[in-house]
Amino acid sequence: MNDSNRHPDNNRPRRAPSGAGSDGLSDGRLVEVHSQLAREKEEPAAGFSLTPIFVVFLFCGFGFWAGLYLTRNSGNFAPSAFDLDAPKLPAGGEVFVFEPSAEKGQVLFNANCAACHQPTGLGVAGMFPPLAGSPWVAGNEDRMLKVILAGMVGEIEVKGAKYNNPAGMLAIGAGLKDGQIAHIATYVRQAWGNNAEPVMDTKVAEVRKAIAGHKAPYSPPELLKEHPLGTK
Ligand code: HEC
Repeated sequence: MNDSNRHPDNNRPRRAPSGAGSDGLSDGRLVEVHSQLAREKEEPAAGFSLTPIFVVFLFCGFGFWAGLYLTRNSGNFAPSAFDLDAPKLPAGGEVFVFEPSAEKGQVLFNANCAACHQPTGLGVAGMFPPLAGSPWVAGNEDRMLKVILAGMVGEIEVKGAKYNNPAGMLAIGAGLKDGQIAHIATYVRQAWGNNAEPVMDTKVAEVRKAIAGHKAPYSPPELLKEHPLGTK
């Protein structure tokens, strides 16, 4: 193959232009030689080499591991993953289902309510009304939940006897969790011959939210108007 096709300059007659010096390096020749040298040089490539393939594998492997790690340990990015008191997801990943427990409720009742209403649920004559057989406890669950969450003050009649404790009942439930209150309410509704349906934690949460603006304790007439005795 004829090189002249690619480098026509190479075949130009190397004749010094008129006026060239004795060493033959005229300006024109100098430029020509320089351009020739420049052409023969390799492309400038400081330290260039292909990425080693193992680095590519390493990188992909790391990405895969990171994905696995997140899938296993992110807790679905739920804020409750960092709440140590939150109910644990059982192994296997089934969703946690709240089960109202009268046994847990009894323990919580004895710690939070029994000082006044007594472990027998019979209360104290003239001071603390009974919960055993009380129509306030049965039927509509909102009524008792509101008493527990916001407290109640004012004369009340339970099972034919009047009570007018000046201190009333404090908002005990404000310091308890939804699940704890649900256990207590379930126990109270099923102990001492009471026979009403259990209460779910979601119901407690619903009532707590609904009465968030109700800072003061309820009065018995106010609650009876919202939830008359004997209604479901
Ligand atoms: C500091 C004493 C005290 C504690 C503790 C207390 N209560 Fe009461 N409770 C009262 C008083 C007093 C009343 C009556 C309020 C009124 O006069 O309006 C009452 C009324 C009630 C009533 C409605 C009336 C009835 O007899 O059915 C329910 C239901 C009730 N309490 C449930 C509870 C539960 C559940 C707890 C625990 C979470 C609790 N109470 C803790 C003092 C207390």
